[in-house]
Amino acid sequence: MRTARVPLSLLLGLCLSVGLIPLAAAQSVPAGASAFAHVQHLAGTIGPRVAGMAGERQAAEYLAAQLRQYGYPVEFHAFQFPFFEARSVQVQVLGATPRVVVAQALLLTAPTPAAGIEADVVAVGLGRPEDYEGRRVTGTIVLLERGVITFREKVANAAARGAAGVVVYNNQSGIVAGTLQQRSEIPAVAISQDDGRALLEAAQRGGLRLRVMVDAVHETRTTVNVVATKRGTARPDEIVVVGGHYDSVPRSPGANDNASGTASVLEAARVLASIPTPRTVQFVLFAAEELGLFGSAAFAAERRQGAVAMVNLDMVGWGERLMIGNTGRDEAIVELAVQAAQGAGIQVARFRAGASDHASFERAGIPALFLHRGVDPDYHRPTDVPSNVDPRHLEEAARLTVAIVRELARPRSGQPVAARQAD
Ligand code: BES
Ligand code: ZN
Repeated sequence: MRTARVPLSLLLGLCLSVGLIPLAAAQSVPAGASAFAHVQHLAGTIGPRVAGMAGERQAAEYLAAQLRQYGYPVEFHAFQFPFFEARSVQVQVLGATPRVVVAQALLLTAPTPAAGIEADVVAVGLGRPEDYEGRRVTGTIVLLERGVITFREKVANAAARGAAGVVVYNNQSGIVAGTLQQRSEIPAVAISQDDGRALLEAAQRGGLRLRVMVDAVHETRTTVNVVATKRGTARPDEIVVVGGHYDSVPRSPGANDNASGTASVLEAARVLASIPTPRTVQFVLFAAEELGLFGSAAFAAERRQGAVAMVNLDMVGWGERLMIGNTGRDEAIVELAVQAAQGAGIQVARFRAGASDHASFERAGIPALFLHRGVDPDYHRPTDVPSNVDPRHLEEAARLTVAIVRELARPRSGQPVAARQAD
């Protein structure tokens, strides 16, 4: 008897088109190309997504549309944050041969009076308390090198000693945007490593005077976290949060930081749509991270009820290998994630870090994970464009996320995840 030969792809196509196989089931593994398309849209088409500006809002709409398309109910979690915009920044070297040094505002810096501040410059190394021993900086502009302690600590240390302003030079080439996390008491700007070294020499010779001018807007604004909910089948009141920030620093398209994490969360959400989980899973894309973790802090404060664990993806599109860690408060959840990675055949390293949205959850007492791949040379720069991101890394991040979430969303006795938080 002769049998008709029908190509497999045609058969599959036919089954799909008549609805014999749900579309999601046919796409039940993460695809790097799908995730990369999100990076191209967010970082390529939209571009910078600065907290409180139009780009961030456009990104929120895009994310909501994607998540709705996967079948999830989506809401916007609105919160207030300290909006900041630098209108203009100038650093002038005064004296016999005056010149201008290219500078950027540190995010949330206090402005100067319109005429600027003019003062002698004292170099104080990294600006740690011990660096000030035997130095008087009252009324001066303090020149500091980036590194070891945060920008916020550097500027607070200078302000506490009566400095009038701070100039921080980079410890790598170029100028890197950074945040003070809250409005500073004194103006603070960032310059390049080369300019910093030149000013350092001049300051050490003595008699370096600078004028620093910062015109900046500070106001309270509202923005939104994007929240999609996948209801648990057995323990719907216990929630696993999976997220990453979708905002960027000013001037940077933020492809690796953090369209990469956002895209990988979307791709994990797409795949998980067809996988039932005992616990509820919430996909949350956070706003206003770059100014100081404001989106995740608001979510952890206002929406923590039921949250049993959190997974944060930030900068997963560039670098040697995936790293799994957190601030160090909960090793058990890291161990669980490392085992999930092994089960999925994904090589990972362990590390420790704060400086991203998982820290907000850990501070609220919720065990959290940070999935990260390392810091690329284009971090917080205009050159953090989609070509900085490797689609295969996004696929791996989404695969790992699916594996970890399936573990976390399945309560078992002896599971090393804290019991549900009481309020
Ligand atoms: N994507 C980074 C987080 C990051 C950077 C983690 C480098 C690990 C290594 C994040 O968007 C960021 O820039 N965070 C700020 C601090 C935060 C408290 C706003 C930072 O690291 O300066
Ligand atoms: Zn960043």
